[in-house]
Amino acid sequence: MTRVLVLYYSSYGHVRALAQAEAEGARSVPGTHVDLRRVPETVPEDIQRKAGFAADDTPVASPADLEAYDAIILGTPTLFGMMAGQMKSFLDQAGGLWARNALVGKVAAVFASTGSQHGGHEATLLTTQIPLQHFGMLIAGMPYTFAGQTTAEGIVGGAPYGAGTIAGVDGSRMPTQTDLAGARFQGAHVARIAARLAGAALAQQAA
Ligand SMILES: Cc1cc2nc3c(=O)[nH]c(=O)nc-3n(C[C@H](O)[C@H](O)[C@H](O)COP(=O)(O)O)c2cc1C
Repeated sequence: MTRVLVLYYSSYGHVRALAQAEAEGARSVPGTHVDLRRVPETVPEDIQRKAGFAADDTPVASPADLEAYDAIILGTPTLFGMMAGQMKSFLDQAGGLWARNALVGKVAAVFASTGSQHGGHEATLLTTQIPLQHFGMLIAGMPYTFAGQTTAEGIVGGAPYGAGTIAGVDGSRMPTQTDLAGARFQGAHVARIAARLAGAALAQQAA
């Protein structure tokens, strides 16, 4: 089995909805085992309550878990133009894995939810890829073979750098069918690439 982790942070459920679609897409590829996990919350509970954060019973991952996967798909909201601190803090705790080159050669992909169309959507997708490249991971985007991203009719999330959605400044806009289809597409895309690499590694070992 190829092992794929979909790992996300979400305060209001937009990234969570995309993460579920990413997992669905990855599971659609035969021979793929998929785990859906979130990173730990760092915001104090009283602030979460006041800010109306959505409850989330998805199991929490720890940085040590990352090593067990062939591919890791990360989802984050845009906060002040970049990934959420919760996600960055999680990655910053993976220094031990970096030191052992434990993630080198694994597949990575990112997806994002952003309040406004030009509030940092692509910047979040691209800059979230930076630490993943420091880990030596191979970045998979959301290729134009997912044609939904090219529409000029209405608002669409995502880019060649990854799937996404535009939540609206008040968060009232949940991911559209096109955004969810993009996330499913990316999940399947990553699972297929990871399976090919895992198959090639097995063939090399056998040779
Ligand atoms: C602290 C904070 C900072 C934010 N910064 C931005 C921003 O820079 N650009 C933007 O378009 N939206 C911004 N937003 C809106 C979030 O991107 C939006 O709430 C998020 O995509 C919703 O995803 P979620 O439901 O998964 O939490 C911000 C929201 C918060 C709470």
